[in-house]
Amino acid sequence: MVPNAWTRRRSELEATGVTLLDLTLSDPIRAGLAPLAQASSALAAVGAGEHTPEPLGLASARAAIATLLSSSEIQVVPDSIAITSSTSESYAHAFRLFADPGEAVLAPSPSYPLFEPLARAEGLELRPYRLAFDGRWHLDRDSLERAALQPGARILLVVEPNNPTGSSLWPDDREFVEQLAARRGLVIVSDEVFRTFPRFPATTPLPSWLGPRRVPTLVLGGLSKLCGLPHLKLGWIAVCGPSEAAREAMRGLEWLGDLFLSVNGPVQRALPALLATRERFALQTGARLAANAAALAQLCQECPAISVLPADGGWSAVLRLPATRGEEEWALALLERGVAVHPGHFYDLSGGEHVVVSLIVEPQVFADGCHQLGLLVDGI
Ligand SMILES: Cc1ncc(COP(=O)(O)O)c(C=O)c1O
Repeated sequence: MVPNAWTRRRSELEATGVTLLDLTLSDPIRAGLAPLAQASSALAAVGAGEHTPEPLGLASARAAIATLLSSSEIQVVPDSIAITSSTSESYAHAFRLFADPGEAVLAPSPSYPLFEPLARAEGLELRPYRLAFDGRWHLDRDSLERAALQPGARILLVVEPNNPTGSSLWPDDREFVEQLAARRGLVIVSDEVFRTFPRFPATTPLPSWLGPRRVPTLVLGGLSKLCGLPHLKLGWIAVCGPSEAAREAMRGLEWLGDLFLSVNGPVQRALPALLATRERFALQTGARLAANAAALAQLCQECPAISVLPADGGWSAVLRLPATRGEEEWALALLERGVAVHPGHFYDLSGGEHVVVSLIVEPQVFADGCHQLGLLVDGI
C-alpha cells in the first residue's frame, strides 16, 4: 500500500526526532487512561496454570459477558455469547460464517477504515452505504437500499455509535435497517464498542441492537474500548435473532473458535475482575472526553470558521474547516506546526473539508493542538 502525502510527511518529521502534538492518538494506554495496575493484579491472581480449551470461551467468561450485557429490559444468556480475541477477530468470524468469497458486506461510510481490509482478507467486497450530514447525521436510505439490492449482499454492518462521526442511527432508521435486512435475508452485525461513551452525560444509554430481533444479529464489544485494555485481546459476540438461526450461528462460531482457540486462558479467567475496572475507566475517560470537547467548543468560539459536527458518543470529533484549502492541505500545514490530525478522507468523510481528532488525548496536548489549529485557520 502506498502511503499518502500526510502519512509520508508525518513519518519524515518523526524520523528527524520531531515530537508531534498527536491528536490522532486513540490508544487508551498511551493516553494514560488504562487501568494497568488493576489489570496486572487481576492477571496475577489467576496465574498461568490451567489449560481448559473451550471453542466459545470459558463458561465463567461467557457468563460474565452475559451479565454485563443484561439489563432490566434485556436478558442475555451465556449460551448466546462467543468470546474472541478482539473485535477485529469477531468481524473475521462473522464474515467467514455468513458470506462466501465474492459476496458483499454493506458498511457505513464514513466509518472505521479497517472494514475494507478486514472484508478483503476474507475475499469479500466492502460495499459502502452513506451516512449523510445535513446539520445532523442520518442514514441515506436510498444508498443503503441500492447497496442491498445489488447481487451478493449478505451482511449489513452498523456501528453504534459510529467512528468517527459519533452518530447513532435514529429509531426510524433502525427500523428501516431491520426491515430491509429481513426482506433481503441479510445478517446484521452491530459494532457497539463505543456505546458506553455518550458524548454528554446521558439520561438514557446509547441504543443497542441487543434483544429480540427479526434477523440474525451479532452485537460486538470488547475489553479494548470498554475497559481501555486493547493489549489483553478479548472481545465478544452476542448473538440475537430467531432462535433456530441464532443456534446455527452459535454452532458456526463454535466451529471457528475450535479451529483457532485464539483467546488466552488467563485473560478469560481474570475477566470478572477486569470488567470490574470498567466503571472507573468510563468515569475517567468521560471526564477526558468532556474536557477536550470543551476545548473544542472554546476553539470554535474564538475561531468561528471552525465548527465541530454534533455527535452522540465515541472517542472522536469531526471538525469542519474553511474551504480555503483542501482538508489534506490543512492537515499537512498543521503537521508543519507540529500537530497531527487525520484528514477526513481517512474515514471517507465527504461534503466539506474535515479533519478528525481523538478526544482521549491528554488535555494539555489537546489544548495546545487546538491553539495551533486556531492560529493556522486565522492565518497567524
Ligand atoms: C468502530 C471500531 N470497532 C472496532 C475497533 C477495534 O476494536 P478491537 O481493538 O477490539 O479490535 C475500533 C478501533 O478503533 C473501532 O473504531
